[in-house]
Amino acid sequence: MSDRIDFAALPDDFAWGVATSAYQIEGAVAEDGRAPSIWDTYAHTPGRIDNGDTGDRACDHYHRWREDIGLMRQLGVGAYRFSIAWPRIRPDGDGPVNAAGLAFYDRLVDGLLEAGIAPFATLYHWDLPQALQGRGGWPARETAEHFAAYAGVVAGKLGDRVAHWATLNEPLCSAWIGHLEGLMAPGHTDLTAAAVHGRGFPADMREVYGVELPERAGDPETMAQPLDWLGLNYYFPVVVAAEPAGPPPFARPVRRPRVPRTGMDWEVDADGIETLLLRLTREYGARTLHVTENGSAYPDVLRPDGTVADPERTEYLHRHIAACARAARKGAPLAGYFAWSLMDNFEWAYGYDKRFGLFHVDRATQARTLKDSGRHYAELIRSHPRRGTPRTS
Ligand code: FCB
Repeated sequence: MSDRIDFAALPDDFAWGVATSAYQIEGAVAEDGRAPSIWDTYAHTPGRIDNGDTGDRACDHYHRWREDIGLMRQLGVGAYRFSIAWPRIRPDGDGPVNAAGLAFYDRLVDGLLEAGIAPFATLYHWDLPQALQGRGGWPARETAEHFAAYAGVVAGKLGDRVAHWATLNEPLCSAWIGHLEGLMAPGHTDLTAAAVHGRGFPADMREVYGVELPERAGDPETMAQPLDWLGLNYYFPVVVAAEPAGPPPFARPVRRPRVPRTGMDWEVDADGIETLLLRLTREYGARTLHVTENGSAYPDVLRPDGTVADPERTEYLHRHIAACARAARKGAPLAGYFAWSLMDNFEWAYGYDKRFGLFHVDRATQARTLKDSGRHYAELIRSHPRRGTPRTS
């Protein structure tokens, strides 16, 4: 690989990690008291997901979590970012706490710690309890209050062992793609609902989009609590051309010629992650940053000899890590990098066809096979003289 990685720019306790999310890997959707989420409903709506796939079984991680911790050990990662399924913890959204659901994450966290892997828990990765959707979903103010209560329950159980918490994964996707474009759960197309979310809009954007926001006095302050760390999910940049006469936001994406693309048709541009990390440092004043997702999908083939050669993903991974180290050298307070994903999984509206894993998953047998990219990641981790486990604050 031509791009040299400046390991010395990364802290000794850098969190080398992998990431997943509950609905994409767990399966066991009707076990131990779990109730449906908006993604169960969406995935079971004909025509929504490629090939009619659903997360019903996914990677069967709910039963294979011990084996999956073994995969992490094989990679040598020191951190694992996973998400907690709200519909396992409070199946009705705000009703009784389901002890069996909590117990699953309790075992997982203990298993990770025993393996020397720091747990990074995300509280919401898009799987809102369907019961709450029936009562208005995210556009209803009470949902945020129920989220706070659920977060308190989870923190009460795991807070003694989990030091790193993320609240909402990519709120943009829930808000915009789920409520305006309709291409993710809950599949609505309503601009006002799409804009309920977030930390308030700049006044000019409110005017451009012409939406009335149900914001109350004090809301922006409540939302703007200081962060311990900020997570960046980066896959690709979007280059736009101005379109002053068009509808908001008066710009349209342009397809750059000669830029390589992944199996998602996303541009490969490692410089973008460096730029973003530096902007978050300089313009947002982020004190600690983690790259919480970064990765690429390609149509992998499991060969008869049991190997998966994925040179494009290997190069993507290497170049993006090199770019992260450049950003760190220039001052970004980067404390961790989480490859998306530990293993091939349910890629939302694309079903199982898009493979992002460092481990290949055979859909019929659930067998996990290390890809060449995973081997390369393990080598990179070994080449960084990591002293301790990731920081706890
Ligand atoms: C991100 C999601 C993650 C995964 C990757 C490919 O937007 O957070 O769950 O689907 O894209």
